[in-house]
Amino acid sequence: MAAEEELDITVSSSLHMVSAFLAMEPPNVVISFAREFGEGSITESVQSCIWHHCITKADLKWQGPYLKRFLKKLILEIESSGGLVLDELYEQYASYMISLQNNDGNKENFRVLKTISFLFPNESSGIVSCPKSMKFEVRLQCSVNMLEGDTGCSIWPSSLFLSEFILSFPEIFANKCCFEVGSGVGLVGICLSYVKASKVILSDGDLSTLANMKVNLELNHLSTHDPVHHKKVHCVCLPWESASEDDLQCFAPDIILGADIIYDPSCLPHLVRVLSLLLKHNKHSHAEVGARRELDSLPADKLLRHPLGKGPVAYVASVIRNAETFNYFLALAEQAKLVVTDLTEKVEVSKFLPYLRSYQRSSIRIFRIHV
Ligand SMILES: C[S@@+](CC[C@H](N)C(=O)[O-])C[C@H]1O[C@@H](n2cnc3c(N)ncnc32)[C@H](O)[C@@H]1O
Repeated sequence: MAAEEELDITVSSSLHMVSAFLAMEPPNVVISFAREFGEGSITESVQSCIWHHCITKADLKWQGPYLKRFLKKLILEIESSGGLVLDELYEQYASYMISLQNNDGNKENFRVLKTISFLFPNESSGIVSCPKSMKFEVRLQCSVNMLEGDTGCSIWPSSLFLSEFILSFPEIFANKCCFEVGSGVGLVGICLSYVKASKVILSDGDLSTLANMKVNLELNHLSTHDPVHHKKVHCVCLPWESASEDDLQCFAPDIILGADIIYDPSCLPHLVRVLSLLLKHNKHSHAEVGARRELDSLPADKLLRHPLGKGPVAYVASVIRNAETFNYFLALAEQAKLVVTDLTEKVEVSKFLPYLRSYQRSSIRIFRIHV
């Protein structure tokens, strides 16, 4: 039987192995899935799958140094447990040794291409408006330097969580105008487009981040300049410090999103001002504001779907690295008369990324913010 046929992607360990490889998880993680797939050892048929579904699918330009590291570790692992290594794996490693001699991927701002696969547990994606599929793949150009582009050229864990939140509750975002602040690589926007948001506006204050984000939209077939059809995903430069009411009022979003944007105390007053302007663009009557405040005592499923939740709301996912900084954000939000509700324990966000061992969901919180 050909190796391609042997890979049953409904077997979670093989699916996890391939997904972890494409997301460029540390080689040890991919190898542990490979061992699980081979029920304890990296058999020749597991190696065949790795060859067909990982190595030949990778692109030397983007993944060269990772491929070299991964193959070296894999070969050592198989040899040390007395297994036979497939010839093609040895040959490929030898060719990387020659072609990648002076490229170890440690160059500052070296770009890699990660594929993030959201794995839907059943046959259905659970997303009524989306085609049935077992997975949704997003390709992202990222930097190996976490700080490049004012931190916006890497994938941060909160954007993975916010993406899982969007895919868990697609009906909240379908047919809505969504505006993201501090969008970074653009993952959240790509998920919003997948769940059929009517319009997606991504923003960032850093120009190199915006350039990288546009590349990612193209990589995922979401053109930002389509003269024939109305473009659905827009990228705008929006430094919070200089964003004026005039700059913001044209957007009038239904939903505002943000992932990992609460970390620099000096930016927080500006961020809160921007959130506040975006949330207050629709004037609510006092009665409606009062009723919206009562929403926060409702259970999460009602809270997310309640008709009074029609005014603009924000969903912000955050890792709280420094309690003082986060409390400062809360104090500023209160001064701006924003209601911040921690939804983390109230909503059940599906685990669509079970193979990402480096992604610690437990450290992330999700907040709903409204006036
Ligand atoms: C930690 S990264 C998070 C990126 C992305 N949301 C994610 O979770 O992967 C913070 C993002 O906020 C942007 N940012 C930081 N300060 C900003 C400011 N003052 N104005 C606009 N954007 C800012 C950065 O450029 C960066 O893209």
